[in-house]
Amino acid sequence: MLRRLHHEQPESFAFTEGNLAWAKEQITKYPAGRQASAIIPLLWRAQEQEGWLTRPAIEHIADMLGMAYIRALEVATFYFMFQLQPVGSVAHVQICGTTSCMICGAEDLIAVCREKIADKPHILSADGKFSWEEVECLGSCTNAPMAQIGKDYYEDLTVESLGDLLDRLARGEVPQVGPQNGRMGSEPKGGATTLTEFVNASIKMNASAQLAHDIGDTVKRIDGTEVALRAPWNDQSGTRGA
Ligand code: FES
Repeated sequence: MLRRLHHEQPESFAFTEGNLAWAKEQITKYPAGRQASAIIPLLWRAQEQEGWLTRPAIEHIADMLGMAYIRALEVATFYFMFQLQPVGSVAHVQICGTTSCMICGAEDLIAVCREKIADKPHILSADGKFSWEEVECLGSCTNAPMAQIGKDYYEDLTVESLGDLLDRLARGEVPQVGPQNGRMGSEPKGGATTLTEFVNASIKMNASAQLAHDIGDTVKRIDGTEVALRAPWNDQSGTRGA
C-alpha cells in the first residue's frame, strides 16, 4: 500500500515546552554524530501531540537531528505506527489483514469498519471520532483475527465483539485490552492444558497468570491509564473490561 503525505498540511509545527524538553533529553542518549537515532521517538511524540504526523513536524524533527528531509520522510512513510493523515479523535482502528487474520475473519471485521466508520479507509467517520485502515501482520497471529486500536491490541475478535468495542469506545468507555473471547494470552481456546494447578479445587490458575499476578503486571489502556493484568478466571464479577 502506498503511504503518502496528506494533501492538506498545517503551516508549521512546534513541540510544546514540555515535549521539547523531553525531545532534547532523548537526543542526549545518543553519542555525537548519532543524533538521527532519536528519529522514531521524536516522530512518535510529535504524533501524540498533534494526533497525526504532519509534514512540518517531520521536517522540524529532521532539522533538530541534522538529517536530510528525505531521510526523515523515509522513516515516517515506512512504519504503519505513523499516521500520515488526520485520524479519529477517539480511535484509529488498524485491522490486520495478513494471512492468519485473513483466514480467521479479517474481511468480516473490515466490513464492520466500513459499516460503522466509513466506507473507505483513512476517511473520518461522520462525527470525526473514528477512522480505520487495513495493516500488515501485527505479530499477534495466535490471537487472530485482531485489531490495534490506538496503542492497544484487541484480539480474538468477531463481527459482534468488534461492533461492541466500537460502540463502547463511542460511549467513552475503555474496554479491556487483549483477547475478547475470555482466554488468557494465547493459551488454547479451551483453557490452559499445561502448567495448570488448582486453588481450593475450583479456581484454575496457570503459571503465566500467577506470574503476572505475583509481579503486579499491568497493561496500558487506550486512555493512557494502567490497570492490573487480570486473568479471566480471576475476575469474579464476570464483567471483563468494565
Ligand atoms: S496475521 Fe494478523 S497478527 Fe499476524
